[in-house]
Amino acid sequence: MTLQETITASAEYLRTHVTNRPTVALVLGSGLGDFADTLENPVRIPYKDIPNFPQTTVAGHNGAFVFGRRCGREVVALQGRLHYYEGYSQQTLTLPVRVLAAMGVKQLVLTNAAGGVNTSFSQGCLMLISDHINYSGQNPLIGPNLDAFGPRFPDVSDLYTAELRTKIKAAAAAAGIPLEEGVYMMFTGPNYETPAEVRMARIVGADAVGMSTVPEALVAGHCGMQVVGVSCITNMAAGVLPGKLDHSEVVETANRVHATFQSLLETILQVI
Ligand code: HPA
Repeated sequence: MTLQETITASAEYLRTHVTNRPTVALVLGSGLGDFADTLENPVRIPYKDIPNFPQTTVAGHNGAFVFGRRCGREVVALQGRLHYYEGYSQQTLTLPVRVLAAMGVKQLVLTNAAGGVNTSFSQGCLMLISDHINYSGQNPLIGPNLDAFGPRFPDVSDLYTAELRTKIKAAAAAAGIPLEEGVYMMFTGPNYETPAEVRMARIVGADAVGMSTVPEALVAGHCGMQVVGVSCITNMAAGVLPGKLDHSEVVETANRVHATFQSLLETILQVI
C-alpha cells in the first residue's frame, strides 16, 4: 500500500466506525494528556484496530484517536503522541494528522512542554507559538509529494494562523489567562539542549525549545489545516538558571499549571 492509500483507507475506517465528524483536533503534550479524558461521550479507536495502520511501528505505543464533544464542539484528541527521538520517521509520526485531514478536520491544536529560552519567561508560563524554527534536521514532507493533500513547495509564512492567534490572545486576556507569545525551536532530543545550544537558540530568535510539534505543524499546514500551537514552559532551558534539568521537573510543572492550561484549551476551542 502506498502512503496515500494507507491514509485514505484509515480515514474510511474511522468514518464507518464513528459517527463523530470533528472539525478540530488536539495533540496533547507531556503531562497535558488528560484533556482527552474530559471529552463528553468519548469514543476511543486505538491505532492497532485500524487495518493497515503501520502496526509494527505505531501500535506498541497505545496511540488512539479519541472522539468526543467539548465546549459544544465535535473534537478529536490524538492520544499517545509519537516523537522523532523514539526512532519514528517524521513521515510516520505525522500519519495520524494526515488521516484526520482526510476525515475532514480543518483545525489542529498542538500542545507541548518546552524549555524557556526568552529570559522574560518564567517556569509555568504558557506561550502561544507564533512561528517555529525546524532544527530537527528532518522534514516530514520529504519523499514523493502527496498531491491530494497539498503542493510540493508549501508556503508556511502563516503556519500558526495569525487570525486565530489574534482571537486567542483577546479571549485569553478576557478570561484572565496570562499568555506569552513566541517562536518555538525544535531540537531532536532526547537529551535536553546544551547551554551553548540554548544561547544559539536565543541568538537565532527562539523563545522556547522542545522536541516535538514542528513535524505535525508542517504536515497540517501542507494539508491546508489551520494550526494553533501552545507551549507550556515547564522549565527554563539549560544554562538559563543554575541547576540541572530533570524530566520530573517537567511533569511537576505541567501538573501545577494543569487547571490554567485546561482553561486555555477551553478558551481556544470556543474562539477558533
Ligand atoms: N528542552 C527541550 N524539550 C523540553 C524542555 C527543554 O528544556 N522542557 C520540556 N521539554
